[in-house]
Amino acid sequence: MLCDNISVNGKGHLCFARQDVVTLAEKYGTPLYIMDEDKVREKCAIYKKALTEAFGNGSFPLYASKALSCKQIYRIMKDENMGIDVVSPGEIYTASEAGFPMARAFFHGNNKTDADIRFAMDRGVGVFVCDGEDELLAIDKAAAEKGIKQRVMLRLTPGIDPHTHAKISTGKVDSKFGAGIETGQAASLVATALGHKNIELCGYHCHIGSQIFEISPFISAADIMLGFSAGIKKTLGYEAEMLNLGGGMGVRYTEEQPQIDYARNISGIAAEIKEKCASLGLKVPKILMEPGRSIVADAGLTVYEAGSIKQIPGFKNYVSIDGGMTDNPRYALYEAPYTVCLANRMEDKKDFPCTVAGRCCESGDLIQEGVLLPKPKRGDLVAVFTTGAYNYSMASNYNRVGRPAMVFLRGGDSYVAVRRESFEDIARNDI
Ligand code: LLP
Repeated sequence: MLCDNISVNGKGHLCFARQDVVTLAEKYGTPLYIMDEDKVREKCAIYKKALTEAFGNGSFPLYASKALSCKQIYRIMKDENMGIDVVSPGEIYTASEAGFPMARAFFHGNNKTDADIRFAMDRGVGVFVCDGEDELLAIDKAAAEKGIKQRVMLRLTPGIDPHTHAKISTGKVDSKFGAGIETGQAASLVATALGHKNIELCGYHCHIGSQIFEISPFISAADIMLGFSAGIKKTLGYEAEMLNLGGGMGVRYTEEQPQIDYARNISGIAAEIKEKCASLGLKVPKILMEPGRSIVADAGLTVYEAGSIKQIPGFKNYVSIDGGMTDNPRYALYEAPYTVCLANRMEDKKDFPCTVAGRCCESGDLIQEGVLLPKPKRGDLVAVFTTGAYNYSMASNYNRVGRPAMVFLRGGDSYVAVRRESFEDIARNDI
């Protein structure tokens, strides 16, 4: 199986976290996002333990909440003693309304407006991850007006190509994010930060991309960042207290993809960091990581009802579902691979090649192509695995389709964490 929270029961039904997905679909309706809370907590624990073991206290993971943002996930992160990465006032609002201790929130983004900056300060965001010179000046000004000293990390681009999809690669020198090391802009940003009295510089950040399976791009990024840090120590006398290596570790969406051992990766990266620091004469900084996908992706599953089955003789077969790009735009955007099954007929022979299509008036609204299923009938349940990351958070109301409900599974029970959008919700802002 793709992940150890997936199984099949005696009725031939798919089970997720040992709960019958058919029963859950009957109880809560479709389409339905299902989250395995125990798996989310297990992943947080893996990152926390690995970072503490490798670097000691003060090194910890931040959950990149762009992967899945809703009040309940922030409550879980609070409970797990995680930090969080937030990228918008909307995420800041959701987290702080959920009672997350905002001192442990790190505010990202390549275009924080003055209003965003003030809002983040009002909500007590702990650290700003500053993307460039003008933002730094805006943070300093807002902090001065508020009479505070704002903790800031600087986002730098180490110039790494992580060999992932171009749209989710972010560490190259021509990226829209951060200040380039090789262009000299990173060094000048440090000098500016050190020269402003309402800024407390606490280190550097980089994020090279997402869905990365190898460890080598992370090691190269760490090497470059530490080399930069040593250079700054020499020229400006400033030594970074924290180094944030971003997120990006890959997740298994299909059987062909490898299963990553996150703890092993972290200890591999740690060995390199310690050696590099020793050779550069640096103290080992506190190391932060920002996993999003690898915390929530395989803790999620989406279940849909099959509707029309269209066979075009000599061409292809379509199975249409009651959701699609509105709840999961990742195939439409990136041709992202997914594993699909019929949740109510797990033991039936898979001999029907098909394209799983969404319900929108858009030919590109597909969930997956080249899928083998038992020949579906109207009313069968189609399950898509590994949808916990970048599905709900990227969902839309295109064609005025409401977003699905999200149910969390915990220790054999289930509860609604996000209710299904109603027609009233959809038309709420229409005058
Ligand atoms: N930190 C920063 C600054 C980031 O920009 C991101 C992701 C992360 C951490 C978390 O990366 P992760 O561990 O999830 O790979 N919508 C795309 C993914 C975009 C990722 C954006 N940044 C997708 O659906 O694949």
